[in-house]
Amino acid sequence: MHIDILTLFPGMFVGPFDDSIIQRAREASLVSIDVHDVRNWAPGKHRQCDDTPYGGGGGMIIKPEPVFRAVESVLGMQPGDPAPCPIILLTPQGRLFTQKIAHELSQHERLTLICGRYEGVDERVREHLVTDEISIGDYVLSGGELAAMVLVDALIRLLPGALGDPGAPLKDSHAGGVLEHPHYTRPAVFRDWTIPDVLLSGHHANQTRWRREASLRRTFQRRPDLIAEAQLSEADRAFLATLEANSESDD
Ligand code: 6GU
Repeated sequence: MHIDILTLFPGMFVGPFDDSIIQRAREASLVSIDVHDVRNWAPGKHRQCDDTPYGGGGGMIIKPEPVFRAVESVLGMQPGDPAPCPIILLTPQGRLFTQKIAHELSQHERLTLICGRYEGVDERVREHLVTDEISIGDYVLSGGELAAMVLVDALIRLLPGALGDPGAPLKDSHAGGVLEHPHYTRPAVFRDWTIPDVLLSGHHANQTRWRREASLRRTFQRRPDLIAEAQLSEADRAFLATLEANSESDD
């Protein structure tokens, strides 16, 4: 996968992409990432990329020309050409990013991310350049850069070979639409706090069932909104019905 990121603040990407899983994925050539400074495509001596809004309202708006020129140059497009890959604007007005969208985007060979800033981006960028708009949550960041990093991290760990355990993404919270079960590791007793007996029993079928039920219980208690969309078996539904009947509590 190749990802181009267009930003007015390329320096923000220096640390986060040079560590851990993202760095390993880059070294293993699972992904290549180019961060481009939009200012390089701004005309004039001052390379101005923002300006005040027509009609007032305050704040600064990112000008259309540097953004169009940057995307066209990076993607080898002529003005008016159809987008050769998803061109995604990171903006709090976009559709809400989810694990499902991460899976969808991870299937593409190439992605282009545009980081919004200031009060926003000239509307013609939305209308005539981008193919998708994504937000990472209902709060306001100073710009799309951190959101782009979140998106890139979520995508890269889904690429085959990016994680030590190839099955890990299937077990993640949100993977099947439910939260992960609690985890424990040695010691079995820590400051008098024990762990569930079943985890020490060596009985694999019971342990598998414990993990699934603990996942469902957690989701039921913390994120009941997820249950409607989750992938559930008949046994899952029966277990959830007992939770509903008892309205029991977790920790
Ligand atoms: Cl993508 N951008 C900004 N500026 N704020 C956000 C966001 C994006 N997603 C949530 N808040």
